[in-house]
Amino acid sequence: MNFHVLTLFPEMILNGMNTSITGRAIAAGRLSLEAVNIRDFAFNKHQKVDDYPYGGGAGMLMQAEPVYLAWQSVAEKLERKPRVVYLTPQGQVFRQSMAAELAGEEDLIFLCGHYEGIDERVLEEIVTDYVSIGDYVLTGGELPAMVLMDCISRMVPGVLSNQESGETESFAGNLLEYPQYSRPEEWHGRRVPDILLSGHHANIDKWRREQSILRTAQRRPDLLKKADLTNKEWAWLKAERKQEEL
Ligand code: ADE
Repeated sequence: MNFHVLTLFPEMILNGMNTSITGRAIAAGRLSLEAVNIRDFAFNKHQKVDDYPYGGGAGMLMQAEPVYLAWQSVAEKLERKPRVVYLTPQGQVFRQSMAAELAGEEDLIFLCGHYEGIDERVLEEIVTDYVSIGDYVLTGGELPAMVLMDCISRMVPGVLSNQESGETESFAGNLLEYPQYSRPEEWHGRRVPDILLSGHHANIDKWRREQSILRTAQRRPDLLKKADLTNKEWAWLKAERKQEEL
């Protein structure tokens, strides 16, 4: 997986991504990352990349030409035209299934905006995917781009070690992960649930599945509607919730 980021703040992307698990994957060559400074493609006296919006209004807009040239500098090196993801609160809201789909690409270009946005015409020419990371407004697209790259990276084979493997955790099957415990057996008077110390793997698996279902019902009822529970599990949950009300 090769990530290419078009940004006014390349050091922010490089500092963030060259840390921890993504940093290790980049060093090992499982991922590659380039951060292209859009300002390097502003061929005017002060390397200016923004200007006032036609029609008036607050703030400045990033101009089309430097963005286009920055994109071209990446695209012309590649055999196939890669998808270009523009980070914007106006995009489709990012989710795990989107990460899985994007992880299948060989190259991805992320376009990070700043100021009040980017001239619409260059977006029309180069952007293939408009993606938001949630219903709130940030100062730029760099953090959202890093959120996407982090999430996509961990789905790229070889990026996570076996120990970090991400198969049975939150959002697999639209269920949240069960609670986990490590040593000591008792901490602040709180004991690790006995079943986890029992060594009975079938019972442990059953308990964990039930905990996932309960937790999702409590914390993310919206997700639970999409979870594939058996009829028996739905019945169990109903009984369990009745029990809670008593
Ligand atoms: N740029 C600013 N806010 C954003 C958001 N919530 N998602 C994606 N890009 C953004």
